[in-house]
Amino acid sequence: MRKVIFLIIHMQLICFILPAQVSVDHLLCENKTNPPGVDIMQPRFTWQLISDKRDVLQTAYEIRVSDGLSTLNNDKNLLWSTGKTSSDQSVHVPYAGAALQSGKKYYWQVRVWDNLKNLSSWSKPSFWQMGLLNSSDWHAKWIQAGYTEDSIQRPSPYFRKKFNTSKNLKSATAFITSHGLYEVLINGQRVGDAYLTPGWTSYNKRLQYQAYDVTNLLKNGNNAIGAMLGSGWYRGYLAWGDNKNIYGKDLALLFQLTVTYTDGTQESIISDESWKSSTGAIRSSEIYNGELYDAREDKNGWATASYNDQHWTGVVTKDFPKTHLISTYNEPIKKHEVFKPAKIFRTPKGEQVVDFGQNLVGFVQLNVKGKKGDKIVLSHAEVLDKAGNFYIDNLRAAKQQNTYILNGNEEEAYEPHFTFQGFRYVKVEGFPGELKPENLKAIALYSDMKPTGNFSTSHALINQLQHNIQWGQKGNFLDVPTDCPQRDERLGWTGDAQVFARTAAYNMQVNNFFAKWMKDVAADQLPNGSVPFVIPNVLGPSSAGSTGWADAATIIPWNMYMAYGDKKILEDQYPGMKAWVGYMEQQSKNDLWNTGFHFGDWLFYRPDDDNDGRAAITDKYLIAQCFFAHSTQLMINTAQVLGKQEDVTKYTALLQKVKDAFLKEYVTPNGRLVSGSQTAYVLALNFDMLPENLRASSAERLVQNIKDYNTHLTTGFLGTPYLCHVLTRFGYTDVAYKLLMNETYPSWLYPVKMGATTIWERWDGQKPDSSFQTPGMNSFNHYAYGAIGDWMYRAVAGIQEIEPGYKKIKIMPHVGGDLTHVAADLQTYYGTVSSHWKVNDGEIELNVTVPPNTNAIVYVPAKETENIKESGKLLSTVKGAKVTGKQAGYVTVEIGSGKYQFTSK
Ligand code: BGC
Repeated sequence: MRKVIFLIIHMQLICFILPAQVSVDHLLCENKTNPPGVDIMQPRFTWQLISDKRDVLQTAYEIRVSDGLSTLNNDKNLLWSTGKTSSDQSVHVPYAGAALQSGKKYYWQVRVWDNLKNLSSWSKPSFWQMGLLNSSDWHAKWIQAGYTEDSIQRPSPYFRKKFNTSKNLKSATAFITSHGLYEVLINGQRVGDAYLTPGWTSYNKRLQYQAYDVTNLLKNGNNAIGAMLGSGWYRGYLAWGDNKNIYGKDLALLFQLTVTYTDGTQESIISDESWKSSTGAIRSSEIYNGELYDAREDKNGWATASYNDQHWTGVVTKDFPKTHLISTYNEPIKKHEVFKPAKIFRTPKGEQVVDFGQNLVGFVQLNVKGKKGDKIVLSHAEVLDKAGNFYIDNLRAAKQQNTYILNGNEEEAYEPHFTFQGFRYVKVEGFPGELKPENLKAIALYSDMKPTGNFSTSHALINQLQHNIQWGQKGNFLDVPTDCPQRDERLGWTGDAQVFARTAAYNMQVNNFFAKWMKDVAADQLPNGSVPFVIPNVLGPSSAGSTGWADAATIIPWNMYMAYGDKKILEDQYPGMKAWVGYMEQQSKNDLWNTGFHFGDWLFYRPDDDNDGRAAITDKYLIAQCFFAHSTQLMINTAQVLGKQEDVTKYTALLQKVKDAFLKEYVTPNGRLVSGSQTAYVLALNFDMLPENLRASSAERLVQNIKDYNTHLTTGFLGTPYLCHVLTRFGYTDVAYKLLMNETYPSWLYPVKMGATTIWERWDGQKPDSSFQTPGMNSFNHYAYGAIGDWMYRAVAGIQEIEPGYKKIKIMPHVGGDLTHVAADLQTYYGTVSSHWKVNDGEIELNVTVPPNTNAIVYVPAKETENIKESGKLLSTVKGAKVTGKQAGYVTVEIGSGKYQFTSK
């Protein structure tokens, strides 16, 4: 007996001294950390294994779920326990326990077993909270202001409600949405840190609400809620001309607060006829035009219980639908980087301008002291003109102007509420006294996506290009992927989004961002399957069906599936994907789609003086046929993943016909395309439109064309993303590098040399003589050409997925250009994948990180295996690194998780 006790103590001691070699962290529910307001009945769980050992794979997991934190380790009270489940799945494991209830909070944790015989401890608990699952769970009523609105300026309506908590508070959750944008305060404090809520969706079909834990904002006793609304995307000016009131002309609020007391009882405070309304300091607010805030109209303390609201009007309740309310799936817009003025100066025209040093999207925060009635006007611009003056012609009709009128109090602080600007420069008018750097701050706003990618090199201009790509993404991922963030446009252009989606998925976690937007694509898809130019569709049903734009319906779901391994987006989008391909089929005659309007290879190279025909025009129907084939191929891939064999057969037959029709119509017997442009060859090669025997010669033609332009690209929106990929695939990485490194127009580095801090809409937005392209179409923050980022991560650093979501990884760096080192890291659901390479005196060092529960094939640049060492040892002696072959200058090595250092000559 004593021996047994001794043994147990001894064992415990060993366990204590030797911590588990594997642990679990980064728990996600529906790809988010502790999300509130989930309305998926079987939310999926993801976790990361943490281990510094090599070759770690999960062999089993155990998940437990409870509706209370304290009951999580009590087996009897669990809602769901998987027990030990043999599986290597650590990403998107669906909940399969008892039915989840509206508004309820659930806790979960997980532990894992690995192939090295380790059992982790239980992870730290995480939670998620369900949203309001049925429209009948909404007891709140839609309310509108009870006064007659000034229909010209449309000042923001303010609402308030005083209430009493009768017992001791335990927790409180607020569910809020609106027609228009909302900002809510409880007891004078802002609810949450999300901006431009409820975000932008196809409002009449899908309206998001947000859920907030507001326990800490409430007090025992008297409380007050204050809410302000802004016109936003709902009824503000959108698109061109006098286009407004797209979703309706009146703003409305829907608010429901569930308070839980310590005795377990609950109470609801809802928007209803007992609320009051008034106007306040926000005299007008528009996304394009900016905000007018008259602080003399401030209603001090209006969102606190002690405020006297006797002069406020009542509200009107409305019977607006609640059946289309959905919880928020993507990350809300939040504040991010803060910029201090880099320079305050006078332009040649004498205007006072602040340079923030970065073209960004957000707004300026103002701190000022002055007299009552002093009026400060902040105008926003992206660039200065040739003479150094403030330039706003490219904003078209968007005013981008915030005006603040002082109330004369001590120090006044202001930031706008329901608007955002795209700018680097701010013109300041009417500032009382001397403007100092501490008076202004620029704040970047964007969807709160987790940064996932780093890419840096030995080349300063390429690093700046990467910076510009990332800032193009930040500035245009405000709830919806937009073309640009500054002029009277800022719309969810489908083409731009599909072109950039793969790059976006390297830089940031965009799984939920696109999952949400794709649902709007499906919601706004036309009955005949055509896909609108912009989503949400604010341009009407006739603006639809352009090749390369509408294909966002198929391309983005597939790209997201590859990047995140999340089948759900394929399942959700499948009907829409099918409908889009069906539309193209219907439009075709003899499998050739050569009708309708198309934007084509938008903004391709076109010299001003084009007498000898240098413009890189590509036949639009040739492009349409290529994308028809590509989307059909993606249908085959998707049907395969989803196990829809009949569709695999159907689309395989269709694809052959589409390619045959292409050959017949657009390819000469000698393999020349009817359009000799780079884009034509790039698309034909990238989408495998040509038979094997014509591919090499076509690639040569492509290279010849590039040389004919003195080694410059000429591609527009549709050719650009694939250009360098095609060159690499056909053995011309050296040419791809020359294009990447090119500093003269048209090239990626030309704008960088011109001082760009974001990606430009046009290759020559600003010409070498510093004059501008036509103002009607000249954004300096347009991410589409930033699609080269995909090639930089995928080919230059060489990080690619073999199995979706990086369960199996390919690391295949391409050493070249003038680069002496490259370092790229990608945060995947499994953990960090890294590929860092450097070249020194003919020796290549490649440092690779492979996260636990994955494995990789590394393409080590070397002629022979004997030339390779790993962490100083001959590769052949390294356990767990298996040489599988040789291929075009690489030795392929299979490895498991861990850190590896390969050196080769
Ligand atoms: C947008 C583009 C968009 C295009 C359609 C423009 O006004 O800014 O990025 O894709 O229209 O060609």
